[in-house]
Amino acid sequence: MSQIRVELTKAPKQKPQDENNLPFGCFYSDHMFVMDYTEGQGWHDARIVPYAPLALDPAAMCLHYGQEVFEGMKAYRTAEGKINLFRPDENFKRLNVSNQRLCIPALDVDFCIEAVKKLVEVDKDWVPSAPNTSLYIRPFIIATEPHLGVKPASEYKFIIICAPSGPYYKEGLNPVKIYVEENYVRAVKGGTGVAKTGGNYASSLAADAEAHKQGYSQVLWLDGIEKKYIEEVGAMNIFFKIGDEICTPMLNGSILSGITRKSMIAVLESEGYTVNERRISIEEVIAAYEKGQLDEVFGTGTAAVISPVGTLKVGEKVMTINGGKIGKLSQHLYDTLTDIQWGRIAGPKGWVVEVC
Ligand code: PLP
Ligand code: COI
Repeated sequence: MSQIRVELTKAPKQKPQDENNLPFGCFYSDHMFVMDYTEGQGWHDARIVPYAPLALDPAAMCLHYGQEVFEGMKAYRTAEGKINLFRPDENFKRLNVSNQRLCIPALDVDFCIEAVKKLVEVDKDWVPSAPNTSLYIRPFIIATEPHLGVKPASEYKFIIICAPSGPYYKEGLNPVKIYVEENYVRAVKGGTGVAKTGGNYASSLAADAEAHKQGYSQVLWLDGIEKKYIEEVGAMNIFFKIGDEICTPMLNGSILSGITRKSMIAVLESEGYTVNERRISIEEVIAAYEKGQLDEVFGTGTAAVISPVGTLKVGEKVMTINGGKIGKLSQHLYDTLTDIQWGRIAGPKGWVVEVC
């Protein structure tokens, strides 16, 4: 395994003063992890260095053709003062899935876990301890080769930065309002929807802007071909409780394979529930609502945690779910997930990785 060189900052930054009022992703810790890739040499020169702007050639290919992938994970400070990661292996396995789709060279998953552990340990004082705060960790890879022809780059940087953060949605655990997008599409099978790559998010901005104008937090995407089947929300997967059934859109080649989604399915199954991963049409959801069977809708994501949906708008139809309040199942999953992440209960073997 390659060595990770550490160069500590000589000018530590002031940490955010009010941990109870930490906006998501606005402050960055003192250090970052950087590793380079050069064709013929592979990944090399792993280092933890003071957080600083990057020097990039203006012809760097990531700036022109979007050859970029990223991940999102968190470090949690437990009541005992320890620091936990949640299923970091899953993040780096998924990063390699994204890498493959974007023609970026694969990384060694175990090495990435070592890198993130070491970075979080160096910046351990940046892991906040106020309730519902964590150190959001953003690993990403950019194509750095200067070249204006369209082709996979021959040089890359793998970087990890950390941002002490509060809840992603200003609503916290209060239900969010979601708008079903009927004009724009996010992804199609064979496209890049399964990858976590910046372009997916860039192409979602116009729809999000429209939703915000109407007072909604994000959009719920439908499939890109028939605009009929539910896919996912901008930053989370989506679940429905329809009568006695718990269901979520199946992994169909165009949605992101969420780690929170996968974890919540495992938790529910271990408790004896069945979760149906299947095609769910928006008409079915409306029909369930009309029959009074749309009991709960909630999103799952690293940043979003478990996020109940209180209002779902489709065209002119505004559906209020569970009286706009958090439902029993959403609350149960939120409690279980956060209890595991913050070390209050033991999760399945290997889910929690202690940093220090
Ligand atoms: N879907 C999208 C588009 C996302 O950006 C995210 C967040 O990462 C998710 C789903 C949820 O994935 P995870 O639970 O792995 O964070
Ligand atoms: C995450 O949940 O980690 C994400 O990457 C979502 C992001 C778009 C904020």
